[in-house]
Amino acid sequence: KIYRASTTAPVNIAVIKYWGKRDPSLNLPTNSSLSVTLSQSDLRTHTTASCSSSFSTDSLLLNGSPQDVSGGRTQACFRELRSLRATLEHQDQSLPKLALLPLKLVSENNFPTAAGLASSAAGFAALVRAISDLYELPANPTELSKIARQGSGSACRSLFGGYVAWEKGTASDGSDSVAYEVAPASHWPSMRALILVVSAAKKGVSSTTGMQTTVKTSTLFPARAADVVPARMREMSYAIEKRDFETFGRITMRDSNSFHATCLDTYPPIFYMNDVSRAAIRAVEAINEAAGKIVAAYTFDAGPNAVIYYLQESHSVVAGRFQEILGGVEGWREDVPATGGEKVDERTAATLKEGVSRVILTGVGEGPIRVQEH
Ligand code: DP6
Repeated sequence: KIYRASTTAPVNIAVIKYWGKRDPSLNLPTNSSLSVTLSQSDLRTHTTASCSSSFSTDSLLLNGSPQDVSGGRTQACFRELRSLRATLEHQDQSLPKLALLPLKLVSENNFPTAAGLASSAAGFAALVRAISDLYELPANPTELSKIARQGSGSACRSLFGGYVAWEKGTASDGSDSVAYEVAPASHWPSMRALILVVSAAKKGVSSTTGMQTTVKTSTLFPARAADVVPARMREMSYAIEKRDFETFGRITMRDSNSFHATCLDTYPPIFYMNDVSRAAIRAVEAINEAAGKIVAAYTFDAGPNAVIYYLQESHSVVAGRFQEILGGVEGWREDVPATGGEKVDERTAATLKEGVSRVILTGVGEGPIRVQEH
């Protein structure tokens, strides 16, 4: 007999960045972070978890290719979920004994892996939810976030839709380092995200390695973790509650800049943004200047791709302006008329045109969704 459950989990993009671990083995962060969950129609991982005595070992297939499951992170997730299932089986002897059976996971992303988007977040969130559903665990998303966090820090935020915080916690066992919903997607549904996928020649320093070096060497980092981020977490939560885009946008841009400043202050320095990323920043600045207020906000993770948040009401002044420059690029599904404002300068436009390989237009979305088996 084969037992099976499937789920999909979304990508999230932080507006206050997680960067730095206070405990690398439990994956506990030095600061809290806050993200927006993106719509699963554009970006999600679909995972089927199954278990059977007919399988020989634990296995994971991602987009058709076998992955190593012996790593500490995947093993930590398996171990915690199995132990919860074992407890259930112990309490109710009539349950099938699944905890000891080999697991088979099959995952697919609906976006190109090469795009370098936050696939570990959606990946581990989907893995944890699929196994939890397979085991019929009574765990809520916050409890599961503690497990997903051990797979990849940012994954704990992908267990919720909408606007999500990950509280750093203070306990040494990580019991209070959990994700929670700040507001559901329906609270502020007009939030849009325009992703500029930048064709990078090679992958830079991984976030896991990069953040360890930052914690060890950056002199800007302690102030960011101790003072800057805690104040921004409060201000950002309030901005979301009030649907105050100007504050939301200003903190988003400044926190991305602060994170990349600590990367540059790391020794040896880490560069995630490139000329194309900086051109995206200049374009956003030009758009905001023309609007006379903040209508668009850029943010960058551990790579050169730009994510630009804006509200639906600013669709034509933001997406329209970018489409004017990047009209021939893959990914535009609709024509967006650009209205008003100055044009972006020629050099900036040329840099974007040359360096952006595709765009993804999406919005705020829901958390993991269980997929019915047929
Ligand atoms: C820049 O979650 O990928 O995207 O916990 O080591 O797996 P690990 O790191 P990861 O780091 C994400 C860093 C970031 C910021 C963020 O998503 O908050």
